[in-house]
Amino acid sequence: MSATTAKDIEKQIESFRDKIRHHEYRYYVLDDPEISDAEFDRLMNELKELEAEHPDLITPDSPTQRVGGKPREGFVKVHHSSPMLSLDNAYTEEELRSWERRVHELSGRKDIEYVCELKLDGMSLAVRYEDGQLVRGITRGDGTTGEDVTANVRTVRSIPLSIGKEKLKKIGIPADFEVRGEMLMPIAAFKKMNDERAQKGLSLFANPRNATAGTVRQLEPSITAQRRLDYFCYSLLRDGRTFFKRHWDTLNALESAGFKVNIRRVLAKNFDEVWSFIQQWEEKREGLPYEIDGIVVKVDQTSLWGELGYTGKAPRWAIAYKYAARSGVTKIEDILVQVGRTGKLTPVAALKPVPIGGTTVSRATLHNMDEIERLGVKIGDWVEVERGGDVIPKVTRVVEDKDHPRGHKSFHMPEKCPVCGGHVIRTEGEADHRCINANCPAKLRETILHFASRGVMNIDGLGGALVNQLTERGLVKNVGDIYKITKSDLLKLERMGDKSAQNVLNEIENSKQLPLERVIYGLGIRFVGERTAQFLAEHFGSMDALMNASEQELLDVNEVGPRIAESIAEFFREPKNRELIKQLREGGLTFTGKKRQRGTKLSGKSFVLTGTLAHYTRDEAKKMIEDAGGKVTGSVSKKTDYVVAGADAGSKLDKARELGVKVIDEKQMESLTG
Ligand code: IVH
Repeated sequence: MSATTAKDIEKQIESFRDKIRHHEYRYYVLDDPEISDAEFDRLMNELKELEAEHPDLITPDSPTQRVGGKPREGFVKVHHSSPMLSLDNAYTEEELRSWERRVHELSGRKDIEYVCELKLDGMSLAVRYEDGQLVRGITRGDGTTGEDVTANVRTVRSIPLSIGKEKLKKIGIPADFEVRGEMLMPIAAFKKMNDERAQKGLSLFANPRNATAGTVRQLEPSITAQRRLDYFCYSLLRDGRTFFKRHWDTLNALESAGFKVNIRRVLAKNFDEVWSFIQQWEEKREGLPYEIDGIVVKVDQTSLWGELGYTGKAPRWAIAYKYAARSGVTKIEDILVQVGRTGKLTPVAALKPVPIGGTTVSRATLHNMDEIERLGVKIGDWVEVERGGDVIPKVTRVVEDKDHPRGHKSFHMPEKCPVCGGHVIRTEGEADHRCINANCPAKLRETILHFASRGVMNIDGLGGALVNQLTERGLVKNVGDIYKITKSDLLKLERMGDKSAQNVLNEIENSKQLPLERVIYGLGIRFVGERTAQFLAEHFGSMDALMNASEQELLDVNEVGPRIAESIAEFFREPKNRELIKQLREGGLTFTGKKRQRGTKLSGKSFVLTGTLAHYTRDEAKKMIEDAGGKVTGSVSKKTDYVVAGADAGSKLDKARELGVKVIDEKQMESLTG
């Protein structure tokens, strides 16, 4: 018997890997496994053992290496190779036909073919490969810049970690390329995860889309690995551009390379075939294992894509036909009242559970008293409930016929807060009722959740269940107390081990580095959102200057009007709040920032950017306008002062002309901003 050489071992390991990759592909991409789970686990364990004996032979693309290192400092921003665009929508056959007409007009051709794909309701994501190896997974972000979520993307087993260069070459794909597609959580996985969370007393995700985003953007890859995410590709790029002549061929090439591409697609020769695909899936969509919200129709001939161009953020060579929001009819068993962070009381209908589009709906918002009156809703009524995308289900109308008799019990807003018993008031001219007790525990809970949330102080792990315990035990009475929590405090709580406690403390410590605007936003001052907080931070440059500013001085800040100025001044007049600021200062949070002097030349002027500018990116143009004191918004209305139109400007330009809004070009924008 000859001695086993190092080469033999390497070969043996590589052969295990190939087998496992093949079975991962059968299971996760084709949904058609050839072996049992136990057999698969056995193969995986054998590979793990071999690798443990020969750690020097471990490669990053080994199937054992899906769960690896954590992103340490949160997610790093990454520039996209070309913008990740969104799609314009069509809601009726007529709108779709007029899109087709436009395609014919602009291309000067009638022989156009269309690829129809399901519009998956998840989150779009780019995955880059270099030398056939997966190197980066990037969220869409704002379309220009996304977040590096590679560690989490690697855990998704329908995404290959590497593809042989020979194989790629045969298919016509270079070794360096990028795929784009939709990450989603199948409905079954979503339900399972929410059931488990409910059992642990954790907050539930509203729908699979939110669950997907929450999973992709969390910092522990081993958790992502446990939740079954799926990824379907719909685009293939080289240097940021598509390169097959036909989109249909792109999809087939992706499939041959081992990516998951939705098999529910067609190449349609004409509008009738497109329409028939749309109708077919409108009926069948309830039976799909994941949620879709429409059909994406794309011009197959990619050579026409450039000619057809873009309208603002969307290409003219594709359109999303959106299905109507899903609804169901059910009975209102009761109307409950929820108290939010600002003390707002929201009436919520407790419904007889009804399945709508794959999830069971048992609550729907009624917004406020005005809405209840508008709908004429009574307890015991049968109502139509609508659920669409990520919105909370809402009651849209009362249903009344012989099978659905009216209810009789009217709902009244309570005079006392259901959480703390404090006074409830409704200010003249406002739709909302509010609890005025500043110490209402409901406000406290929501205030802390807001403070800790992503985009504010980013304290991952400080979620609903933990906040409940901290507030109920009196350990946290305001957001300042978060910075006094000790490990021994945390260890006394339920479901809190040493490791989780340390993680929470690390997160709290990290939050101290976040800039001043986050702290201002986190305070939860009424009417002070993310953008206003940023303006305040830039204008005053420190918490002290902001805190001591008069209403008059506050009015000098970009976009701060009398209502906001009053609310800020009122907040800082309250001694309890000044005490809180002191506490946060002692906690070591960031209290100073960089002053950025915005000009006043364009103050009060509102701009909309459309089309592609020759010399500036959208962000640069926006910054120029904002630096001159102007404001940039997303849609054209009568209030818009200027529309800056670049090449290929589309519907926004049409709208500006229709409304008589002044349209300027890049040069004029330069001279306006100085
Ligand atoms: S194509 C420029 N194809 O829908 C092309 N998008 O509303 C942009 N989506 O951001 C995307 N399924 O997240 C495309 N088969 C599909 C899709 C799809 C879902 C999402 C995607 C995009 C959004 C636009």
